[in-house]
Amino acid sequence: MDESFLRGLPKAELHLHLEGSFEPELMFEIARRNRVDIPFKTIEDVRAAYCFSNLQDFLDIYYRGASVLLAEQDFYDLTFAYLIRARADAVRHVEVFFDPQTHTMRGVPFAAVIGGILRALADGETAFGITSKVIPCILRHLSEDDAFAVLRQLEPFLDLVAGVGLDSSELGHPPEKFARVFAKAKAMGLKLVAHAGEEGPPEYVWQALDVLKVDRLDHGNRALDDAGLIARLAQDKTALTVCPLSNLKLCVVEDLLRHPLKRMLDLGLRATVNSDDPAYFGGYVGDNYVAVARALALSQAEIVQVAKNGFLGSFLPDADIARHLRTVDAFVAGG
Ligand code: HPA
Ligand code: ZN
Repeated sequence: MDESFLRGLPKAELHLHLEGSFEPELMFEIARRNRVDIPFKTIEDVRAAYCFSNLQDFLDIYYRGASVLLAEQDFYDLTFAYLIRARADAVRHVEVFFDPQTHTMRGVPFAAVIGGILRALADGETAFGITSKVIPCILRHLSEDDAFAVLRQLEPFLDLVAGVGLDSSELGHPPEKFARVFAKAKAMGLKLVAHAGEEGPPEYVWQALDVLKVDRLDHGNRALDDAGLIARLAQDKTALTVCPLSNLKLCVVEDLLRHPLKRMLDLGLRATVNSDDPAYFGGYVGDNYVAVARALALSQAEIVQVAKNGFLGSFLPDADIARHLRTVDAFVAGG
């Protein structure tokens, strides 16, 4: 399988934090126009700081980077820049995460955040044919009350939002902390996803499934430590949004050669490949496909299954999923 096959394969990206696609060049430009200080002099300084030994190390620098975003146009520019990169990797559909609290806690109006993101996504669909959904995420290190406040902010935008997610510091903040929040989100008609089993134990994955009742699981690596959980995920065909280069950079895996993606596929799990925070982890979704396919010597059939899993795990209507699966088959057939 050559690189052009991996890059050209039609893809859905289901685990992408817009704030994590904030490239240093754009960060400097927006900081300058907003007259905000950042603790770096050069782009090289920024890149040199992107060396992490765990999730929290990364989150500290990621929240600092996001703090230069102030105006609706900033969120537009961030989102549109991601779409330009996504197009180069043949992304046909994306379900983006963003962290409302990271911005509203600094006094940025929620309408400016979501307004800029939605305007860029609409322009991206017109310009590049990339369809999208948005999934605001609740910061799990903050309180249940703070999370309910996010749901209240979503109320005027319910037609425009696909679901809610749960991200930030996993250890010490189990999914059950947000049981009531997720029940309310479900009653509001929202899809549910949660980061679980990135650093946290299998118990957190069980809670995401049984307490939060998620429709899809973000990461899920540690689920492989529990045979009962593997059986459950296989039975329910729960999509796992796996992020190989993120796992490497955050030391969730020691080495890509030991990445669990191949095992997940062998076990019949609906594993997808995604970039998570591409500006921080050294690669967009195409880079993740290339790196993990090489490291694990995946066959063409396996990588095609991964691409199909992206569409199958999306929140698109069945007819759209079927259409995307046909474009994957046509690409593989050389058409
Ligand atoms: N895990 C938890 N929170 C996050 C991540 C992640 O990988 N990326 C951005 N916020
Ligand atoms: Zn993530």
